[in-house]
Amino acid sequence: MALVPGEIVRLFRQHFGGAAPQIYRAPGRVNLIGEHTDYNLGFVFPIALEMACYAAIAPAAHDKLQVFSREANAGFAININEVAEAKPMHNWSDYVVGVARELARDAVPLKGADIYIASEVPAGSGLSSSAAIEVAIAMALLDGRELQPLEIAKLCQRAEGQFVGMPCGIMDQYAAVFGQKNAAIQIDCRSLTHNYVELPPNLRIIAVNSMVKHELGTSAYRERVAECRAAVEAIQQRYPEVQSLRDVTPEMFVEVEAQIPEIPRKRARHVITDSQRVLALGKAAEAGDLAEMGQLFVDSHRSMQHDYEITCAEIDFLVERALRIPAVYGARMTGGGFGGCTVNLLAPEVEERFRRELAADYKQKFNLDPIFYDCVPSPGASRM
Ligand code: GLA
Repeated sequence: MALVPGEIVRLFRQHFGGAAPQIYRAPGRVNLIGEHTDYNLGFVFPIALEMACYAAIAPAAHDKLQVFSREANAGFAININEVAEAKPMHNWSDYVVGVARELARDAVPLKGADIYIASEVPAGSGLSSSAAIEVAIAMALLDGRELQPLEIAKLCQRAEGQFVGMPCGIMDQYAAVFGQKNAAIQIDCRSLTHNYVELPPNLRIIAVNSMVKHELGTSAYRERVAECRAAVEAIQQRYPEVQSLRDVTPEMFVEVEAQIPEIPRKRARHVITDSQRVLALGKAAEAGDLAEMGQLFVDSHRSMQHDYEITCAEIDFLVERALRIPAVYGARMTGGGFGGCTVNLLAPEVEERFRRELAADYKQKFNLDPIFYDCVPSPGASRM
């Protein structure tokens, strides 16, 4: 259930009292295909979710950003003159301060304000709870002042890379900004342009939360970024014009792969093929070819499992188990990896069975209760 604006206003007033706040909403996302391709300037294919982060903001007489998070059940305050020199605290407040700092650096003056944050996007699930906070906060701090949507996405990505310390690509922030009702967003991460693709009717997209997030997350992400760079350097021996894996066609890759050391070669193979799969999934969706869409999901999962090596036992189990159910067209891990969610394409009539069998068998094997989310393509960030 989406948090209704009235509920956020109530929470805000309960905490801060005073005036009616303005509300901003920014959604989480589920990526359909194209994983770890964004920082290689390839293609990605997310949909924005109904689950979103809400930021309620009201101007205040003081010189601080006074912030409270419902999920953390904690708050903090920072003087607006200290934001530019702030240091990360390694908790949720970094998303807020990181964004405020980027705005201040972009010469958007900060004003004293009370801010209440409530999010429905589960943290650590691979559904991009952090980008949802960043974008909601950016909109709230702007509070009506103009900034191009693409600039908001880029600013939030910078906050995450430079303040939070996660060298992520642009996908999550882009999806939170540009989400569209009834459509997936096919994003070109080099040109930073996109087109909307409607998905076939009679299709359920269900994310399954494995309820695990293995700690390797951020360090493995950095490692993958570095390994992709190493692959680019090896490929440059032969093709000096190559700047990123985006510049490497599948044909070029076959020609040079023997000259790339083994680990970077596997990483590059995943990135190059998954980026191609984004384009193929767009075509299959437009043709209404559910079997092909499903096959692309499975190929993508295998590629993450064996070449990018970012899956884990729980996630692999959820994928294999889902694929044993007839009319489950495809299943794959979504997001950064090492836990989080799978995303599944299935016929509406098997949804009940899908939920029942996965829940029972996952519980038996891992003693965990997975959570199921119906993923309905929803609009991007807005003032409510
Ligand atoms: C995380 C990052 C994204 C992207 C995905 C993997 O969600 O924030 O930029 O790299 O992992 O596709």
